[in-house]
Amino acid sequence: MKNLGDFLRGCEVGQELSKVLSSLAVSVKSISESIHNTDVGKAGSTNVYGEEQLALDVLADRIVSDACKKSGVVGLIASEELPTEVRVGDGRFAVAYDPLDGSSLVDVNLAVGTIFGIYDGIKTFTGVNGDDQVAAMVAVYGPRTIILLALKDAAGVYEFTLKDGEFVLTRGEGFGDAAFAPLSVGEGKMFAPGNLRACSENPKYLGLLEYWVKEQYTLRYSGGMVPDVVQILLKGKGVFSYPPYSKYPNGKLRILFECAPLSFLMEKAGGAASDGKVRILEKVVSEVSERTPIFIGSKLEVKRCNEYLD
Ligand code: F6P
Repeated sequence: MKNLGDFLRGCEVGQELSKVLSSLAVSVKSISESIHNTDVGKAGSTNVYGEEQLALDVLADRIVSDACKKSGVVGLIASEELPTEVRVGDGRFAVAYDPLDGSSLVDVNLAVGTIFGIYDGIKTFTGVNGDDQVAAMVAVYGPRTIILLALKDAAGVYEFTLKDGEFVLTRGEGFGDAAFAPLSVGEGKMFAPGNLRACSENPKYLGLLEYWVKEQYTLRYSGGMVPDVVQILLKGKGVFSYPPYSKYPNGKLRILFECAPLSFLMEKAGGAASDGKVRILEKVVSEVSERTPIFIGSKLEVKRCNEYLD
């Protein structure tokens, strides 16, 4: 069995990037343990977006920022739970992360996740776009804890599963068994339609929904972007949508912390992601908390979204 360390050595990403990714994987392990062992109550604080923080949000944020600091190779971080980007050292890498995406699902015991976008040699996140990422990683805390990883300089998306304290490669590389086939997103009738409130204001979104329903697509929606997008990557088909509406005229989900890393993974798996017009990975971030509408999944479904919402 190959673990994350063996894999990183094999694809020669370089010692420093390897260090970043291994440090983040260690933080995922600790978040996974914390989810099982920490109180799910409120922290009594709100984040920069005015959203109430759980004790776990705060803890997960600290676990990741500490891991970045300790790695010695990360210089800059930005977190969904922090008001601004923060310099944490002299390292050349920068990590943008959402420590606990979907945290409102923790108390009802549904899957949640952590999202990371990794950049090399940037001085600030202002002015970057998703195409600048050198790696993206997402962790899902469900019945199992898994990581999906994609690297700029390597083809494909790789799945690692936490087993006996280490991340073991379970999908994505030359396994004979079909169960371990590389992750690849093609076509298929599955949909995860977010923000249906927008239908009451936007007949075009309602029209798209009607298309999916009339065509008998299978509904698979949990309310957590991480599990909802990761299922598309793992099942190899489907689409997730979160359009804008009056409350969130630019959409709800953040480019840096959520949309760019997940879009990087989706494109590496052969899928696509757009804001209805522009590829998510081309969108330049003008402030760390910038939001975007998103349509992400198979190429044909994303094209369909673009056409319906035009
Ligand atoms: O804040 C992020 C998030 O929880 C995503 O994980 C999820 O897809 C979305 O918000 C759900 O938003 P809403 O509560 O508006 O349906």
